[in-house]
Amino acid sequence: MIRANSICKSFAGKQVLSGIDLDIKPGTIFGLLGPSGAGKTTLIKILTGQLGFDSGDVRVLGKDVRTLTGTDKKQIGIMMDNHGIYERMSCVDNLKIFADIYQVGQSKVMTTLTQVGLADSAKKPAMKLSKGMRARLQLARVLMISPKLLFLDEPTSGLDPMTMKYIHKLILDCKASGCTIFLTTHNMEEASVLCDEVALLNEGKIVDRGAPEDLCRRYNHQKTINIHLKSGEDIELPHSEKSAGEIMSLMTQGKIETIHSSEPTLETVFIELTGRRLEDSEEVKYA
Ligand SMILES: Nc1ncnc2c1ncn2[C@@H]1O[C@H](COP(=O)(O)OP(=O)(O)O)[C@@H](O)[C@H]1O
Ligand SMILES: [Mg+2]
Repeated sequence: MIRANSICKSFAGKQVLSGIDLDIKPGTIFGLLGPSGAGKTTLIKILTGQLGFDSGDVRVLGKDVRTLTGTDKKQIGIMMDNHGIYERMSCVDNLKIFADIYQVGQSKVMTTLTQVGLADSAKKPAMKLSKGMRARLQLARVLMISPKLLFLDEPTSGLDPMTMKYIHKLILDCKASGCTIFLTTHNMEEASVLCDEVALLNEGKIVDRGAPEDLCRRYNHQKTINIHLKSGEDIELPHSEKSAGEIMSLMTQGKIETIHSSEPTLETVFIELTGRRLEDSEEVKYA
Protein backbone atom coordinates (compact mmCIF):
# COMPACT_ATOMS: atom_id res chain seq x y z
CA MET A 1 0.00 0.00 0.00
CA ILE A 2 2.97 2.27 0.77
CA ARG A 3 6.50 1.46 -0.29
CA ALA A 4 9.42 3.82 0.14
CA ASN A 5 13.11 3.40 -0.60
CA SER A 6 15.80 5.65 0.84
CA ILE A 7 13.78 8.87 1.07
CA CYS A 8 16.00 11.84 1.85
CA LYS A 9 14.81 15.37 2.45
CA SER A 10 16.54 18.51 3.62
CA PHE A 11 15.34 22.05 4.26
CA ALA A 12 17.87 24.79 3.52
CA GLY A 13 20.78 22.38 3.77
CA LYS A 14 19.55 20.77 7.01
CA GLN A 15 18.91 17.04 6.56
CA VAL A 16 15.48 16.25 8.02
CA LEU A 17 14.94 12.71 6.67
CA SER A 18 17.86 10.39 5.95
CA GLY A 19 17.22 7.18 4.01
CA ILE A 20 13.72 6.21 5.08
CA ASP A 21 12.50 2.76 3.92
CA LEU A 22 8.90 1.64 4.35
CA ASP A 23 6.79 -1.33 3.29
CA ILE A 24 3.27 -1.08 4.63
CA LYS A 25 0.87 -3.96 3.99
CA PRO A 26 -2.79 -3.41 3.08
CA GLY A 27 -5.28 -3.49 5.95
CA THR A 28 -2.72 -2.78 8.67
CA ILE A 29 -2.11 0.13 11.04
CA PHE A 30 1.42 1.46 10.87
CA GLY A 31 2.66 3.84 13.55
CA LEU A 32 5.53 6.27 13.16
CA LEU A 33 6.77 7.17 16.63
CA GLY A 34 9.15 9.93 17.41
CA PRO A 35 9.61 13.06 19.50
CA SER A 36 8.73 16.51 18.26
CA GLY A 37 11.00 17.54 15.38
CA ALA A 38 11.89 13.95 14.41
CA GLY A 39 10.49 14.41 10.89
CA LYS A 40 7.07 12.71 11.19
CA THR A 41 4.97 15.43 9.57
CA THR A 42 7.54 15.93 6.82
CA LEU A 43 7.31 12.21 5.99
CA ILE A 44 3.48 12.30 5.87
CA LYS A 45 3.63 15.30 3.53
CA ILE A 46 6.00 13.41 1.23
CA LEU A 47 3.91 10.21 1.26
CA THR A 48 0.76 12.16 0.42
CA GLY A 49 2.37 14.09 -2.43
CA GLN A 50 2.15 17.46 -0.65
CA LEU A 51 5.92 17.87 -0.50
CA GLY A 52 8.75 16.93 -2.85
CA PHE A 53 11.84 15.01 -1.72
CA ASP A 54 15.51 15.10 -2.68
CA SER A 55 16.15 11.44 -3.47
CA GLY A 56 14.59 7.99 -3.15
CA ASP A 57 11.36 6.38 -4.40
CA VAL A 58 7.85 6.57 -3.00
CA ARG A 59 5.04 4.32 -4.18
CA VAL A 60 1.53 4.75 -2.83
CA LEU A 61 -1.49 2.65 -3.94
CA GLY A 62 0.94 0.88 -6.27
CA LYS A 63 1.99 4.08 -8.12
CA ASP A 64 4.83 6.57 -8.00
CA VAL A 65 3.53 9.26 -5.62
CA ARG A 66 4.38 11.95 -8.21
CA THR A 67 1.96 10.40 -10.71
CA LEU A 68 -1.12 10.03 -8.49
CA THR A 69 -4.24 11.26 -10.28
CA GLY A 70 -7.18 13.13 -8.77
CA THR A 71 -9.10 9.84 -8.65
CA ASP A 72 -6.26 8.17 -6.70
CA LYS A 73 -6.13 11.08 -4.27
CA LYS A 74 -9.85 10.68 -3.54
CA GLN A 75 -9.02 7.29 -2.01
CA ILE A 76 -6.57 8.87 0.41
CA GLY A 77 -7.76 10.54 3.62
CA ILE A 78 -5.43 12.99 5.36
CA MET A 79 -5.99 14.33 8.87
CA MET A 80 -3.43 16.94 9.87
CA ASP A 81 -3.52 19.94 12.18
CA ASN A 82 -6.58 22.08 11.39
CA HIS A 83 -6.35 20.96 7.78
CA GLY A 84 -9.48 21.82 5.77
CA ILE A 85 -11.83 23.04 8.49
CA TYR A 86 -13.83 26.21 7.78
CA GLU A 87 -14.06 27.94 11.14
CA ARG A 88 -17.23 29.97 10.60
CA MET A 89 -19.18 27.10 9.09
CA SER A 90 -21.20 24.57 11.03
CA CYS A 91 -20.10 20.93 11.32
CA VAL A 92 -22.75 19.85 8.85
CA ASP A 93 -21.82 22.56 6.30
CA ASN A 94 -18.13 21.69 6.61
CA LEU A 95 -18.92 18.09 5.74
CA LYS A 96 -21.33 19.07 2.94
CA ILE A 97 -18.58 21.02 1.18
CA PHE A 98 -16.22 18.15 1.56
CA ALA A 99 -18.83 15.68 0.29
CA ASP A 100 -19.18 17.88 -2.80
CA ILE A 101 -15.44 18.02 -3.47
CA TYR A 102 -15.01 14.28 -2.99
CA GLN A 103 -18.28 13.46 -4.79
CA VAL A 104 -19.64 11.51 -1.85
CA GLY A 105 -23.44 11.29 -1.55
CA GLN A 106 -24.83 14.01 0.77
CA SER A 107 -26.60 11.26 2.73
CA LYS A 108 -23.18 10.35 4.13
CA VAL A 109 -22.93 13.71 5.93
CA MET A 110 -25.38 12.97 8.73
CA THR A 111 -24.46 9.29 9.03
CA THR A 112 -20.80 10.23 9.48
CA LEU A 113 -21.61 12.97 12.01
CA THR A 114 -23.60 10.38 13.95
CA GLN A 115 -20.76 7.86 13.66
CA VAL A 116 -18.32 10.30 15.31
CA GLY A 117 -20.87 11.38 17.94
CA LEU A 118 -21.43 14.91 16.63
CA ALA A 119 -25.05 14.64 15.48
CA ASP A 120 -26.24 16.91 18.32
CA SER A 121 -23.67 19.56 17.42
CA ALA A 122 -24.33 19.46 13.66
CA LYS A 123 -25.29 23.16 13.52
CA LYS A 124 -22.45 24.43 15.74
CA PRO A 125 -19.78 26.52 13.97
CA ALA A 126 -16.39 24.78 13.91
CA MET A 127 -14.75 27.59 15.91
CA LYS A 128 -17.09 26.92 18.84
CA LEU A 129 -16.14 23.25 19.16
CA SER A 130 -14.10 21.87 22.05
CA LYS A 131 -10.75 20.31 21.21
CA GLY A 132 -12.21 16.80 21.40
CA MET A 133 -15.21 17.66 19.19
CA ARG A 134 -12.91 19.33 16.71
CA ALA A 135 -10.78 16.19 16.46
CA ARG A 136 -13.96 14.20 15.80
CA LEU A 137 -15.02 16.64 13.06
CA GLN A 138 -11.61 16.31 11.44
CA LEU A 139 -11.89 12.56 11.56
CA ALA A 140 -15.45 12.70 10.18
CA ARG A 141 -14.11 14.60 7.19
CA VAL A 142 -11.77 11.78 6.25
CA LEU A 143 -13.97 8.84 7.28
CA MET A 144 -16.79 10.17 5.09
CA ILE A 145 -14.84 9.42 1.93
CA SER A 146 -14.35 5.75 2.99
CA PRO A 147 -10.63 5.99 2.22
CA LYS A 148 -8.50 3.06 1.12
CA LEU A 149 -5.54 4.70 2.78
CA LEU A 150 -5.69 7.03 5.76
CA PHE A 151 -2.94 9.30 7.12
CA LEU A 152 -3.42 10.60 10.65
CA ASP A 153 -0.84 13.06 11.98
CA GLU A 154 -0.95 12.89 15.79
CA PRO A 155 -4.72 12.29 15.82
CA THR A 156 -5.10 12.34 19.60
CA SER A 157 -2.43 14.84 20.61
CA GLY A 158 -3.61 16.89 23.60
CA LEU A 159 -6.98 15.14 23.92
CA ASP A 160 -8.58 13.90 27.14
CA PRO A 161 -8.49 10.12 27.78
CA MET A 162 -12.22 9.62 26.97
CA THR A 163 -11.98 11.32 23.57
CA MET A 164 -8.73 9.50 22.91
CA LYS A 165 -10.43 6.14 23.51
CA TYR A 166 -13.35 7.16 21.29
CA ILE A 167 -10.96 8.09 18.48
CA HIS A 168 -9.05 4.84 18.91
CA LYS A 169 -12.32 2.97 18.45
CA LEU A 170 -13.10 4.91 15.25
CA ILE A 171 -9.60 4.16 13.93
CA LEU A 172 -9.97 0.44 14.68
CA ASP A 173 -13.44 0.40 13.03
CA CYS A 174 -11.86 1.98 9.98
CA LYS A 175 -9.19 -0.72 9.89
CA ALA A 176 -11.91 -3.39 10.25
CA SER A 177 -13.52 -2.03 7.09
CA GLY A 178 -10.28 -2.77 5.21
CA CYS A 179 -8.56 0.62 5.30
CA THR A 180 -4.76 0.87 5.66
CA ILE A 181 -3.76 3.46 8.24
CA PHE A 182 -0.51 5.38 8.69
CA LEU A 183 -0.41 7.36 11.90
CA THR A 184 2.16 9.37 13.76
CA THR A 185 2.24 9.74 17.50
CA HIS A 186 4.55 10.40 20.39
CA ASN A 187 2.27 8.41 22.65
CA MET A 188 3.75 4.92 22.98
CA GLU A 189 0.67 3.57 24.70
CA GLU A 190 -1.45 4.62 21.72
CA ALA A 191 0.99 2.86 19.39
CA SER A 192 0.83 -0.33 21.46
CA VAL A 193 -2.97 -0.36 21.41
CA LEU A 194 -3.47 0.47 17.73
CA CYS A 195 -0.51 -0.52 15.61
CA ASP A 196 0.39 -3.78 13.88
CA GLU A 197 3.83 -2.38 13.19
CA VAL A 198 5.72 0.66 14.44
CA ALA A 199 8.89 2.41 13.35
CA LEU A 200 10.86 4.52 15.79
CA LEU A 201 12.02 7.76 14.15
CA ASN A 202 14.74 9.88 15.69
CA GLU A 203 16.41 12.84 13.99
CA GLY A 204 15.22 11.74 10.57
CA LYS A 205 16.32 8.10 10.81
CA ILE A 206 14.34 4.95 11.61
CA VAL A 207 16.26 3.43 14.52
CA ASP A 208 14.19 0.23 14.78
CA ARG A 209 10.85 -1.22 13.74
CA GLY A 210 8.57 -4.18 14.31
CA ALA A 211 5.36 -5.27 16.03
CA PRO A 212 5.10 -3.33 19.33
CA GLU A 213 5.19 -6.47 21.48
CA ASP A 214 8.17 -7.92 19.54
CA LEU A 215 10.12 -4.68 19.94
CA CYS A 216 9.42 -4.62 23.67
CA ARG A 217 10.48 -8.25 24.05
CA ARG A 218 13.64 -7.68 22.03
CA TYR A 219 14.80 -4.94 24.39
CA ASN A 220 13.77 -6.76 27.52
CA HIS A 221 17.21 -6.78 29.16
CA GLN A 222 16.24 -6.11 32.73
CA LYS A 223 13.62 -8.74 33.36
CA THR A 224 12.12 -8.62 36.81
CA ILE A 225 9.28 -10.31 38.67
CA ASN A 226 7.15 -8.03 40.80
CA ILE A 227 5.30 -9.58 43.70
CA HIS A 228 2.70 -7.89 45.87
CA LEU A 229 2.20 -9.67 49.17
CA LYS A 230 -1.07 -9.92 51.10
CA SER A 231 0.72 -8.04 53.90
CA GLY A 232 0.97 -5.02 51.54
CA GLU A 233 4.72 -5.40 50.93
CA ASP A 234 6.13 -5.19 47.37
CA ILE A 235 9.07 -7.37 46.32
CA GLU A 236 11.08 -7.17 43.09
CA LEU A 237 13.07 -10.27 42.14
CA PRO A 238 15.40 -10.88 39.20
CA HIS A 239 13.87 -13.02 36.44
CA SER A 240 16.30 -15.91 37.03
CA GLU A 241 16.46 -19.44 38.47
CA LYS A 242 17.75 -18.00 41.74
CA SER A 243 14.33 -16.49 42.43
CA ALA A 244 12.46 -19.80 41.99
CA GLY A 245 13.01 -20.96 45.57
CA GLU A 246 11.83 -17.70 47.10
CA ILE A 247 8.72 -17.54 44.89
CA MET A 248 7.89 -21.17 45.69
CA SER A 249 8.25 -20.53 49.40
CA LEU A 250 6.02 -17.41 49.30
CA MET A 251 3.44 -19.29 47.24
CA THR A 252 3.27 -22.36 49.45
CA GLN A 253 2.82 -20.08 52.47
CA GLY A 254 -0.09 -18.40 50.65
CA LYS A 255 1.51 -14.96 51.04
CA ILE A 256 1.21 -13.75 47.43
CA GLU A 257 -1.58 -11.40 46.37
CA THR A 258 -0.34 -10.72 42.78
CA ILE A 259 2.71 -11.66 40.68
CA HIS A 260 3.81 -10.05 37.38
CA SER A 261 6.81 -10.13 35.09
CA SER A 262 7.80 -6.67 33.86
CA GLU A 263 8.38 -5.97 30.16
CA PRO A 264 9.71 -2.67 28.87
CA THR A 265 7.28 -0.31 27.17
CA LEU A 266 7.90 1.26 23.76
CA GLU A 267 8.92 4.37 25.71
CA THR A 268 11.78 2.56 27.46
CA VAL A 269 12.82 0.94 24.17
CA PHE A 270 12.94 4.39 22.59
CA ILE A 271 15.03 5.82 25.41
CA GLU A 272 17.45 2.90 25.19
CA LEU A 273 17.87 3.41 21.44
CA THR A 274 18.11 7.18 21.35
CA GLY A 275 18.71 8.53 24.84
CA ARG A 276 15.58 10.66 24.31
CA ARG A 277 12.06 10.48 25.59
CA LEU A 278 9.20 10.45 23.07
CA GLU A 279 7.67 13.49 24.72
CA ASP A 280 10.84 15.53 24.18
CA SER A 281 10.77 18.59 22.02
CA GLU A 282 13.57 18.88 19.46
CA GLU A 283 15.53 21.30 21.66
CA VAL A 284 15.71 19.02 24.70
CA LYS A 285 17.88 15.95 24.43
CA TYR A 286 18.91 13.55 27.12
CA ALA A 287 22.49 12.34 27.09
N1 LIG B 1 9.00 23.94 5.66
C1 LIG B 1 10.06 23.77 6.44
N2 LIG B 1 11.16 24.55 6.31
C2 LIG B 1 12.26 24.38 7.08
N3 LIG B 1 12.36 23.44 8.06
C3 LIG B 1 11.30 22.63 8.25
C4 LIG B 1 10.09 22.75 7.46
N4 LIG B 1 9.21 21.80 7.88
C5 LIG B 1 9.83 21.12 8.88
N5 LIG B 1 11.07 21.62 9.11
C6 LIG B 1 12.05 21.10 10.11
O1 LIG B 1 12.17 19.72 9.90
C7 LIG B 1 12.30 19.02 11.13
C8 LIG B 1 11.22 17.96 11.24
O2 LIG B 1 9.96 18.61 11.36
P1 LIG B 1 8.59 17.81 11.41
O3 LIG B 1 8.52 16.89 10.24
O4 LIG B 1 7.49 18.81 11.54
O5 LIG B 1 8.77 16.96 12.74
P2 LIG B 1 7.65 16.22 13.64
O6 LIG B 1 6.39 16.18 12.87
O7 LIG B 1 8.25 14.87 13.92
O8 LIG B 1 7.53 17.04 14.88
C9 LIG B 1 12.26 20.08 12.23
O9 LIG B 1 13.56 20.40 12.58
C10 LIG B 1 11.57 21.24 11.54
O10 LIG B 1 11.97 22.44 12.12
MG1 LIG C 1 4.51 16.84 13.39
